[in-house]
Amino acid sequence: LNIVYLTTEAVPFAKTGGLADVCGTLPWKVAELGHRAAVIMPAFRSIHSSGIEVETTDVSFAVPMSDRKLVGARLLKSTLPYGDVPVWFIDQPQYFDRDGLYGDRSGDYADNAERFTFFCRAALTAIARIGWAVDVLHCNDWQTGLIPALIKSAPNVFPWVRNAATVMTIHNMAYQGQFPASAFSWTGLDWSYFRHESFEFYGNLNFLKAGLATADQITTVSPRYAQEIQTPQHGCGLDGVLGSGHDHVTGITNGIDPTIWDPANDSKIEHPYDTTDWQSGKTANKVSIQRRFDLKLSREVPLIGLVGRLAEQKGWDLILPVLRWHLEQGRPTQWVVLGSGDPRVEFELSSLAKEFGDQFGLHVGFDEALAHQIEAASDLFLMPSHYEPCGLNQLYSLRYGAVPVVTETGGLADTVVDCNEETLADRTATGFYLHEVSPVGLDDAIGRALQLRYHDPKKWEQIVLTGMNQDWSWRKSACQYVELYDRAVSLKQGLGK
Ligand code: ADP
Ligand code: GLC
Repeated sequence: LNIVYLTTEAVPFAKTGGLADVCGTLPWKVAELGHRAAVIMPAFRSIHSSGIEVETTDVSFAVPMSDRKLVGARLLKSTLPYGDVPVWFIDQPQYFDRDGLYGDRSGDYADNAERFTFFCRAALTAIARIGWAVDVLHCNDWQTGLIPALIKSAPNVFPWVRNAATVMTIHNMAYQGQFPASAFSWTGLDWSYFRHESFEFYGNLNFLKAGLATADQITTVSPRYAQEIQTPQHGCGLDGVLGSGHDHVTGITNGIDPTIWDPANDSKIEHPYDTTDWQSGKTANKVSIQRRFDLKLSREVPLIGLVGRLAEQKGWDLILPVLRWHLEQGRPTQWVVLGSGDPRVEFELSSLAKEFGDQFGLHVGFDEALAHQIEAASDLFLMPSHYEPCGLNQLYSLRYGAVPVVTETGGLADTVVDCNEETLADRTATGFYLHEVSPVGLDDAIGRALQLRYHDPKKWEQIVLTGMNQDWSWRKSACQYVELYDRAVSLKQGLGK
């Protein structure tokens, strides 16, 4: 099969979260299974600091952005670090040569509807210019949601992809790309195309809805989240769209890239380790982190780590009070947090870090290496998300022996097994669930974990090693995607399977 991945993020070129990890790895894992894969993404400023050469090509074209405006684009080219997968960048400096991908400190860029409509149309034009006979167009998140809708609504405008099967993957249902109807004019299509079967959602233009209503297959990044988003509670208003025309959403759990996330071969951590020397390895990494953040040096104190976007989703309303209790009451724990996002959370964290500097280390910003070091150093890793489509950090934590403390939701519930008598006995336990989604519930889960660590080191070791020995690599998930692509192509060709 020839598969083109449409995305705004892919490691190592542009990243704000897990979407980048997925789109930087899945394509080459699928290529390893004998298929041809390519990635098309915007030429954001960050692509030039990836360490991989980006070439200019002589392919340029103009994209009609309304009945009066044509916007030029040029293609740049590189490859993913593995698998010889080409990456094509849509270069349009006015739209994409900016520090942020979607916004800056004052919020989302005001022209996002225009920027990503442009990206969708330009990506389709690029496919014609690259000259690939595409079997599958795999779109990811709202920024690419117009692509299936453009193809379905106006097949004559894009005849070279009219027979390609479209797959729309939801990495996060809460981000939909909803704009006033007037933004539809950027598509350059006649207003008669602005219909509720595709682009229109309660009078607005909704990118994700457009993709979900028109794609041949819908997937999301864990089976549990696939069920959750089909309910009003987690459907973010789009559960009805999932219900109509598609009898189900396929949930395929993300994998992790073992070339990047492997404690035994990780050049970003000071003391690599594996299951045979995890205790000494983690302790040595803990001391390195304590030095870096000027925390009180102690090999014994449990280190609690967090890495992630400072967004409501991630449960900061639960974390902040618990962190405060631990610090103010001088409980025997140390904390390290890496994150950026909501300025109010940044402010609260910074005040606590100032006041309790020898117990709490904070880095506000985006720092890949530090993310690895925190996983390597932590005894516990907190992810009390209110919802979590899949989550990658808990998978990294399992592999790095940083026992995850999680809410029982989405991908967290699918990948972490709560520790209790039964799961300890059958040796499946890998982490701790919040039994109540509240600060008290989080504190209780941390308490249960620390209790076991102190009072039953053998069982603690069992939990750590069960997690470290699990195989969360992409292979299985990549096979599931290929099955889905095959199904989509067969259905498209009217063969049915
Ligand atoms: P989400 O995609 O919702 O943010 P995931 O757990 O799926 O959550 O993926 C987050 C990814 O982004 C992980 O690879 C994580 O290490 C990384 N990440 C998040 N915040 C930061 C940060 N401040 N610095 C470095 N890496 C980060
Ligand atoms: C989203 C989700 C996260 C998921 C990631 C990659 O950002 O919030 O749970 O792991 O996408 O699919």
